[in-house]
Amino acid sequence: MTEQHHLTLTVNGRAHSCDVEPRMTLADCLRERLDLTGTHLGCEHGVCGACTIIVDGAAVRSCLMFAVQAEGAEITTVEGLADGETLSVLQQAFHDNFALQCGFCTPGFLTTAETILAENPSPTRAEVQSAISGNICRCTGYVPIIDAILEAAERRRAGKK
Ligand code: FES
Ligand code: FES
Repeated sequence: MTEQHHLTLTVNGRAHSCDVEPRMTLADCLRERLDLTGTHLGCEHGVCGACTIIVDGAAVRSCLMFAVQAEGAEITTVEGLADGETLSVLQQAFHDNFALQCGFCTPGFLTTAETILAENPSPTRAEVQSAISGNICRCTGYVPIIDAILEAAERRRAGKK
C-alpha cells in the first residue's frame, strides 16, 4: 500500500484533516477528499488558471502544488467566497456584467481577482488585464471579466462587502 500522510489544513474557515498519498495534488485533495468540486481542473499543468485557489493570501495553482505542501495552510476556494446564499461583491459583479458563459474558468478568475483586490483596492484597467493574464477563458472574451473586477473594486470602495 502506498504511504499516506496525515494532512491538516483550514479550508474556507473550517479545519479539515485527511490522509493523502505524497503525490496527490492539492486540487485533487480538495475535489476528491474534501468534496470541494468548485475548484476546476483544465490543463493540469499550470497553464489555464482554472484551478486557482488562495493559499495563505496568495493565488496558487492547486494543480501544481502537492497536498502535503498545504500542511497547516489557510485556504480559500470558490466555495468560501459567498456568505451563505449571498454572493460576494465580486461574484455579484461577475453576474451583473455577464462575465461568464460556461463558467468553467470562473472559480479561477474569482479567486485570482480576490487576491488582486486584496493587494490593490483601486487597480487600473491595465493592472487588472495584467493580473488576470494567467487565466484562460474560451467563452466570454475578457472585457466583461475586466469590467466586473473593476466594478467590484468600485463597489468595495463604496463600502460594500
Ligand atoms: S488546471 Fe491548474 S493551471 Fe490549468
Ligand atoms: S466562461 Fe467558459 S471558459 Fe470562461
